[in-house]
Amino acid sequence: MPGDVSIGIHDLSLATTQYVLTHETLAAHNGTGVAKYHRGIGQRAMSVPAADEDIVTMAADAAAPVVARHGADRIRTVVLATETSVDQSKAAGIYVHSLLGLSSAARVVELKQACYSGTAALQFAMGLVHRDPSEQVLVIASDVSRYELDSPGEATQGAAAVAMLVGADPALLRLEDRSGMFTADIMDFWRPNYRTTALVDGRESISAYLQAVEGAWKDYTGRGGRKLDEFGAFCYHQPFTRMAHKAHRHLLQYDGHAVGEEEITRVIGHTTAYNMELGNSYTASMYVGLASLLDHADDLTGQAVGFLSYGSGSVAEFFAGTVVPGYRARLRSGAHREAIGRREEIGYARYRELHERSFPADGGDHPAPKETTGPHRLVGLSGHKRIYATR
Ligand code: HMG
Repeated sequence: MPGDVSIGIHDLSLATTQYVLTHETLAAHNGTGVAKYHRGIGQRAMSVPAADEDIVTMAADAAAPVVARHGADRIRTVVLATETSVDQSKAAGIYVHSLLGLSSAARVVELKQACYSGTAALQFAMGLVHRDPSEQVLVIASDVSRYELDSPGEATQGAAAVAMLVGADPALLRLEDRSGMFTADIMDFWRPNYRTTALVDGRESISAYLQAVEGAWKDYTGRGGRKLDEFGAFCYHQPFTRMAHKAHRHLLQYDGHAVGEEEITRVIGHTTAYNMELGNSYTASMYVGLASLLDHADDLTGQAVGFLSYGSGSVAEFFAGTVVPGYRARLRSGAHREAIGRREEIGYARYRELHERSFPADGGDHPAPKETTGPHRLVGLSGHKRIYATR
């Protein structure tokens, strides 16, 4: 019966790109003092996809170790959340399903609502596992965030994927059923189908995010949710890591608590280490924050973690999870540090070239240059079809 089964995140794995651009390099190009990036927005570097990487290769890179560890027998559903998809019709998760050799007896679907849809995927997965606790759902969030060159948003670009295995009796995090929701029809950030870069009203997007924090928290507590001081840590969506500070400060004020920088750092500090190096990974960002928290904090066993997921446009959700005893033995901290540390640093000219690169849309054969040293690559386009391979 719903409620009797413990459901949550059984495994979590992170992947990112071949290349990295540091904010020192960006600052040297555009004449900005690097302190604005390091301290003002809390970013040090951004992941940049190679010419043969995209959301599919990152998603497969993130999910492959999960499938290798647990097998695929119980995975009946794959949900891939993204806002930078590669096709208007076919779900990107089908390419991943194929690359990983998953069973044909599975459903695969793609979800979109800006940065929020990774959370929608997780919530839908919980519902499916409630219905049949013998099934597992592979939830993947994968995105490449891209703004116009020389725009204020450029410094908040990034890319990453997180794969999560959702099932009964989870090894990492037990998720609670109660959620607080908030939706508002606003234009703070969006990307029309004919554009490759996002449009954004930067200041408006920050205040929209903060309004959504209030709205989701109000709904959560109105439905009998936990009190603020019951949480050991908070994971926020991180378009840039200082946003998590702003959001938590706002929540403390709204809920009538004293605001102390030390206390904010204590409850969110560990969630920002990876995002600071990867940049905004949209749908994956909050779950990159969770990976960072689990990998960096001292023993969190039994502690409640609060999640605030925000997607422009806008939808937000606040929910909670409890860290499961024995979780540390199941972490992938070494692999996560390796994925971040192995990226090759590129210069500004190379970054700009990759930023502006696109495949011709003529239906011809267009092989992608061999660049990535990761496990999966985009081989190219042929007859308008994307071709992927395991390296
Ligand atoms: P900007 O206008 O260039 O920066 O762009 P700024 O002048 O506002 O400065 C940023 C911060 O750095 C400020 O701090 C400055 O004071 C500080 P704040 O006042 O905000 O606390 N600063 C310095 N600090 C130390 N030393 C210095 C220094 N100089 C300045 N020398 C902006 C900033 C975030 C607007 C821009 O990067 C942008 O447009 N980003 C994209 C939009 C975005 O990330 N919005 C966040 C909320 S919306 C969201 O999260 C959803 C999203 O992920 C999309 C989705 O849902 O799909 C984006």
